[in-house]
Amino acid sequence: MSSAADVELFSLETLRDPYPAYQRLRAEAPVFHVPEMNVHVITRYDLVRQAIKETEVFSSRYDGFLQESQRIAFEAASEDVQQQLIKLTAEMVDVPPTMLTLDEPDHTNYRSLVNKLFVAARIREAQDAVQGVIDECAANLLAAGSGPVDFVETFAGPVPLRIIADRLGIPEEDRDFFDDAATAAASALRLTPLPGEEMVRRAQLALDLQKLLIRLVDARRAEPRADMISILANNKLEIGDRALTHGECISVLNQFLVAGHETTASAFSWGMLLLCENPELQEKIRGDDKRIKTFVEETLRMEAPVQGLPRLVTKDTELGGYKLSAGDMVMLRYGAANRDGDQFPSPDDVDVDRAKAGQQLAFGAGVHFCIGAPLARQELTLGFRTLMDMGANWRLAEGAPRPEPEPSFILRNLPGLQVQFDPR
Ligand code: HEM
Repeated sequence: MSSAADVELFSLETLRDPYPAYQRLRAEAPVFHVPEMNVHVITRYDLVRQAIKETEVFSSRYDGFLQESQRIAFEAASEDVQQQLIKLTAEMVDVPPTMLTLDEPDHTNYRSLVNKLFVAARIREAQDAVQGVIDECAANLLAAGSGPVDFVETFAGPVPLRIIADRLGIPEEDRDFFDDAATAAASALRLTPLPGEEMVRRAQLALDLQKLLIRLVDARRAEPRADMISILANNKLEIGDRALTHGECISVLNQFLVAGHETTASAFSWGMLLLCENPELQEKIRGDDKRIKTFVEETLRMEAPVQGLPRLVTKDTELGGYKLSAGDMVMLRYGAANRDGDQFPSPDDVDVDRAKAGQQLAFGAGVHFCIGAPLARQELTLGFRTLMDMGANWRLAEGAPRPEPEPSFILRNLPGLQVQFDPR
């Protein structure tokens, strides 16, 4: 048998299908050093959970790691591209870390304020609006009749984007720009090298997005409405008893776009692919809300949209008998933990009756547990219910090849998914 040492986590083949590599790592080297990136990759469920819990040892202050990959990309760009990027960056407001890359108590200070946007009552209140967006996009799928249609472009992408745009209160006239800018923002986490002109285009979009968000924060401070930006702009942090600065507002809102939109789109797409590849599931979940909920958890477990995120080791320690030193970077692999057979029997199968399917780690756990999870779950359960009610025999479009995910070490998403179905 080959040893884990020859696992190539960054080969195109593994980025497209990481599960065989994860399986070997869980069995042979559940904490595994990857020299190319100098990170220690954690793949076993119990160890991922342990690292998530021990926030004093495994810190979320990994912004330096993200900046380092940006610096490498910047240095690889041509002189001309570098000059343009410097000019654009100079115009930007400084954006401090707020939730994702902070530890307690600063993390808690921001998180308590942002929690006001996601309280259960608000999610329930918004149910009709969410269903409205789903119905609109479902009608666009129906317009294709029984012909092939791109599920990502017509449904999986637009549903979460419109919902977050509505909730934030993005004005109608700024929607096209917002869609572009939000999609570009999500790519920041992809850590995939880009051509120079694309780097400049995205930097310009990021700058224009900052300008739009600042304009909206100021407008909602002058005249509050019922949207998320109003709540964010007009509430105070507990520690410091002050309102958020423009930079802090942008930081929080950027996280909604980076962490919230493409991830939900990705879960929709993978869920649909699983239904096409396992058609018996369609009959099983149709008309059964409990199973639809479990199906959503199973989709997230099988294909975690965020495959992993880093943590910075703050002091010498050990994890599962593996020694780590202060300053080491570890990579929690939610996507690998979710397929751990010691936690989930028959881990590679979708089981819509699985007990404890909700223990999957696609939303993380502990203090950084995804703040948008209730919204994402609501969108996904209402979405799949509607899709199953409106169509039967969902299948990959005739002659279409099996769709390939975009190769990224962090995000896992499908750029396109051609499907057909029989309207019911
Ligand atoms: C299926 C959809 C989603 C997935 C798979 C997902 C995944 C995640 C994960 C894995 C984390 C934990 C990060 C960590 O361990 O450090 C996280 C945090 C976060 N997510 Fe989500 N997310 C989704 C939807 C959303 C939505 C809809 C929003 C907001 C509109 C959102 C906003 C956030 C924010 C702000 C954080 C940071 C929380 C903190 O650090 O305290 N996410 N998400």
